[in-house]
Amino acid sequence: NLPKVYVTRQIPKQGLDLLRQAAEVEVNPDDAPVPRERLLEIIKDCQGVIGLLTERIDAEFFDAAPNLKGYANYAVGFDNIDVPEATRRGLPVTNTPDVLTNATAECAWSLLFGVARRVVEADAVMRSGSWAGWGPMQFIGGDVTGKTLGIVGAGRIGTAMARMSRGFDMPVLYTSSSGRRNETLDKELNARLVSFEELLEESDFISLHAPLNPGTRHLFGADAFKRMKRTAYIINTARGPVIDEQALLEALKAGEIAGAGLDVYENEPALTPGLAELANVVLLPHIGSGTESSRTDMSMLAARNMLAMLKGHKPETCLNPEIYD
Ligand code: GLV
Ligand code: GLV
Repeated sequence: NLPKVYVTRQIPKQGLDLLRQAAEVEVNPDDAPVPRERLLEIIKDCQGVIGLLTERIDAEFFDAAPNLKGYANYAVGFDNIDVPEATRRGLPVTNTPDVLTNATAECAWSLLFGVARRVVEADAVMRSGSWAGWGPMQFIGGDVTGKTLGIVGAGRIGTAMARMSRGFDMPVLYTSSSGRRNETLDKELNARLVSFEELLEESDFISLHAPLNPGTRHLFGADAFKRMKRTAYIINTARGPVIDEQALLEALKAGEIAGAGLDVYENEPALTPGLAELANVVLLPHIGSGTESSRTDMSMLAARNMLAMLKGHKPETCLNPEIYD
């Protein structure tokens, strides 16, 4: 009898094929999240679940799945998982780091250029048929080369984002919640570890790569936006609630900052009313990891993690490896 694994949404086939070699796999057939009640019912007899960042993995979830041997998140971010609760129960939980690092940093760069050079606004004019020819004052945007890049959260993705700035000769500043220096950034880019206040005041572009936790929730609120340069842009490919979205809206309207490029939102999929009416924002639907190779590799990593957990082995990217000690 093969163990049963439920996958809460269609993911790339490579991972599912791998999983099917050693498990009976059921995949949510709908292109929508499984309703909570239905999920709790389905997982009753499952040994494994692969889920998304939209699933709440908490005591209620674990209670509903008495046969569970492990949970694999199809995401690097794991603010949706109560990891201490999983650990208390001796249940391993995993995420998908590394395989989406470059894709997410590239997405942040697309937002950086998109908002600085007003790509989306300008594209809309072309599509409207109203462009009357080249004009010296049209769509003047912000410079990138030589401007200061501030990285909040210099982990894997923040480091990749910073390294990609080399072609643009950008001084790099970063903050660190642990206070530890990032040696790659220090050595390769001469980056400076600074206080949060200094980063706010000196950066021309601030890119967020910190995980969401009680220490980063609403890290960017009215005070932070007031401290930023009026010519500065903020880019968020991390988690929406790191920004107080209402405060961002007000800062953008008041011209306290120049613009924002967002891939994530405080209350996904809802947007703070008014945000989508602003010209100085570029808004993406949480597609940071959305490249062919990244999503394929995420599916295979989640599958390998699941297969290890089903066998009682330590998975590659475990969030609570101490349960194996
Ligand atoms: C996506 O947001 C992820 O955490 O992988
Ligand atoms: C995410 O994986 C990060 O470390 O930035």
